[in-house]
Amino acid sequence: VSRPGVVYTPPDVAERLAREVIDPMIAARGGAIRVIDPACGEGALLAAAARRLAAHGIPAEGRLFGLDVDPAAASVARRWAEVTVADALWTDLPKFDAVLMNPPWIDAEAHARLDPIGRARIRARFRCTRGNWDLFVPFIERAWELTHPGGRTGILLPERAISSDYMAEVHRGWLERHPIACWRLGQAFPTVSVDAIAWIEVDAPPPTSMAFDGRPIELGGLSGLPPGHWGGAGALSDGALRRLATATKLGRVATLSDGASTTEAYQLAEKVTEVSGEGGFRLVNTGTIDPFRTTWGQRPTRYLGRTLHRPGVSAEDLAAFPRRLQQARSQKVLVAGLSRRLEAVAVGGDVLCGKSAVCVVPTVPPDAVAAVLNSGPIDELYRRLFSGHGFGGSLHVGPRQLEHLPFPDDLSALATLGASLARDPDDRIAWRQLNRWMSDWLS
Ligand SMILES: C[S@@+](CC[C@H](N)C(=O)[O-])C[C@H]1O[C@@H](n2cnc3c(N)ncnc32)[C@H](O)[C@@H]1O
Repeated sequence: VSRPGVVYTPPDVAERLAREVIDPMIAARGGAIRVIDPACGEGALLAAAARRLAAHGIPAEGRLFGLDVDPAAASVARRWAEVTVADALWTDLPKFDAVLMNPPWIDAEAHARLDPIGRARIRARFRCTRGNWDLFVPFIERAWELTHPGGRTGILLPERAISSDYMAEVHRGWLERHPIACWRLGQAFPTVSVDAIAWIEVDAPPPTSMAFDGRPIELGGLSGLPPGHWGGAGALSDGALRRLATATKLGRVATLSDGASTTEAYQLAEKVTEVSGEGGFRLVNTGTIDPFRTTWGQRPTRYLGRTLHRPGVSAEDLAAFPRRLQQARSQKVLVAGLSRRLEAVAVGGDVLCGKSAVCVVPTVPPDAVAAVLNSGPIDELYRRLFSGHGFGGSLHVGPRQLEHLPFPDDLSALATLGASLARDPDDRIAWRQLNRWMSDWLS
């Protein structure tokens, strides 16, 4: 029978994790170590820990401990460890030298459906449970509580643990602690179609770098990544990591927002009509944004189920939405919210940003902002940061992602290139110069 979030660790993964966590502890403390798996299931990780101890001639007795809410699983795990049937999130426990864990992975929606009351209690008790947290989040925090100073922790998690907004708080915690390594395990759990990672940290004086996907990364570089989104770290160049850690962020030189909230979009919908002559605001939405140009009036716009050719809103109608009116009147950059690459266009005070586009109101020249966002190197950086390794398919582009992009301080060349490309979006030479400039800056 399968229960939600219950997938036992295959022996090869357990072995690798145990080796990485237990061996250094044995090297440091000899036989005087105590190890726990607080959600031990049938004991795959504890069995691997027992093998590591045996390899060093250390008996497992009195050194291996487990907890699980499932009595049947616990009785199997007793072959290797002292196992208690109890809830790891709510049971008082001492600290340990090593924590091994493959906690339950249950996403926010499923957890809220399965156990709404338990979820509310956990949320009140664990500080990292913010946003759409998965059930593995409080277990990560629990592992911190259970580890002795100088102790090691190794946790198996789904890959979304390094690329989700709700992980921002855990990532801050990880940076305050001492990450040692993060490995991608791919589909290491044959019965679930989710890629896995292993996360290893030590509660000890800070190392200056960690191995991310086999690649050494300065922890200072990690701190420049958008919290919650470390997935691309293994694939970023040193230069890009350095820029992310030190450069001004787009969010510092611009106010970014969604075109309209869903409620506003529906309220506005009836005011959106085909416009003919002068006056009022043209409505530009994601489908009519291309790099450095809009195709408004050339391509139809889909807006909340309707198709319009020259959609717009009159100034009188927009007056009922003071924030949108102000936004529409400003010089700004619109970015497509759903597209195959980053697409940005600088527009004037006669354009209203549609619901599925991002509105960027900069304090620097809009042409320079459009140039940066349209450049190939920034498009590539965005994908690495926010869509894992996915290079195909559509990008979801939002204000909370864009604001983390690094932004150059020296804008003279970029403003000029952006202005040329706004006049002629097909200017191949200007495109090449732009991409070269940005790629030099990021390397
Ligand atoms: C993904 S399985 C992993 C089991 C084992 N650590 C392994 O690697 O094979 C997660 C385990 O957590 C247990 N579990 C779920 N919620 C728990 C809780 N609140 N306290 C302790 N164990 C829990 C489940 O019964 C299940 O055995």
